Amino acid sequence: MSASQADLLTALGQAIPAAQTSTEPAMLNQYGCDWTRAYEVAPAAVVFPKTEAEVVALVRQANAEDFKLVPSGGRTGLSGGAVASQGEVVVSFDKMNAISGFNAVDRLVTCEAGVVTANLQAFAQEQGLFYPVDFASSGSSHIGGNIATNAGGIKVIRYGLTRDWVAGLRVVTGTGELLTLNSGLVKNATGYDLRHLMIGSEGSLGLIVSADIKLAPAPEPQNVMVLGVPKLTDLLSVLTAFQQRLTVSAFEFFSDLCLRKVLAHRDLTAPLQQACEFYALVEFDESNLEAASDAFAFAMDQGWVVDGVVSQSEAQAASLWALREGISESIAADTPYKNDLAVRVSDVPEFLEAVQAEVVSNYPDFDVCWYGHIGDGNLHLNILKPKDLSVAEFVQRCEAMNPSIFAQVQQRNGSISAEHGVGLVKRDYLGYSRSAGELALMQGLKQLFDPNSVLNPGKLLR
Ligand code: MLT
Ligand code: ZN
Repeated sequence: MSASQADLLTALGQAIPAAQTSTEPAMLNQYGCDWTRAYEVAPAAVVFPKTEAEVVALVRQANAEDFKLVPSGGRTGLSGGAVASQGEVVVSFDKMNAISGFNAVDRLVTCEAGVVTANLQAFAQEQGLFYPVDFASSGSSHIGGNIATNAGGIKVIRYGLTRDWVAGLRVVTGTGELLTLNSGLVKNATGYDLRHLMIGSEGSLGLIVSADIKLAPAPEPQNVMVLGVPKLTDLLSVLTAFQQRLTVSAFEFFSDLCLRKVLAHRDLTAPLQQACEFYALVEFDESNLEAASDAFAFAMDQGWVVDGVVSQSEAQAASLWALREGISESIAADTPYKNDLAVRVSDVPEFLEAVQAEVVSNYPDFDVCWYGHIGDGNLHLNILKPKDLSVAEFVQRCEAMNPSIFAQVQQRNGSISAEHGVGLVKRDYLGYSRSAGELALMQGLKQLFDPNSVLNPGKLLR
């Protein structure tokens, strides 16, 4: 062991029991990265605090001994926000995973940062309530990571983002100060709401140790429809037809290429008899079935929709959802270059066509998988790597295209990262979505909360 490693372990030992620290290569590899695979993984150690006091002590030690910390949740991120490439210490919240309180009057549940999203959803269900933030990675992502990235997912159109469900936070700042923010209050007009500053800050201002999460009333059972929509530009007319008649819980879309990838990867059947250029997936309360059927008939009459299927059971609803939620995993072997973009919902059709034209004219040899949360304006653009191209050349060619794609985003005051965060992947493009004035203020906030830059250095901001 090198002298500096020994010093680091001694410093860590002052904050955290040695049994909660690992330098084993397999552990470093596992805990030093997220779902992005483009970065070197080289943490110096991984620690597993069990208490807030240990997190406070750790951050103080990092300041005193000059080492850097990378917070780590379920490591399902797609922006490199949890990657440790520079000998940092990874702070895993795996052992702070208790649901430590529930109040039925307030409908608030207190979770440590490491609670897995699906466990929170199951807990809510046991109380006859509902935690509505949901995505394909719910089975492994942590609530702390969801808050740090303000995770969105598939039900944003009805229930909003993670931000909308956080009623209180406990956070350790970059100087090791433990802050209690908002304490579960509904109303609190006492100035700056630091809770909201922490949400989406990607571990750059503080380490979230626990949160008070609001729960919603349990929804009715849900029905799912998958519709064949030949023309991209008609997808939003279909959305409007539904929204004029009922409240939708989700409105997602995917292209036929996505469907073919999922069907090749999973044991699922095609939803419709004939393939269609695009598909819309609509979810709604079962009591709205008649209104939804009305919307469907209207969309058929208009020629926007050519065919459709509605779930007849919970199991069929789940298989229809699997066609959408399985896409990310099904295209993983194609080393997709991912962009996660947002514009206003009304701008989606012409934005999507402009970006598609950009990709096709520059790189006619690249396959593009479009899917995402079209009902809230969030589109996932995944460019698939041709088999005969090296990863390095592919990434370089995709990066060369980014400025023209992001210029399309900027023209519409859109976002270059709708829900995947900035991390390392989008950091150098932030100027397409944020003004120079905003970026300067963000740097100022970083300096204020984390003056020695011990928290997730190089992520989100340089
Ligand atoms: C999704 O919507 O499936 C997720 O954001 C993951 C992805 O974009 O690949
Ligand atoms: Zn998504």
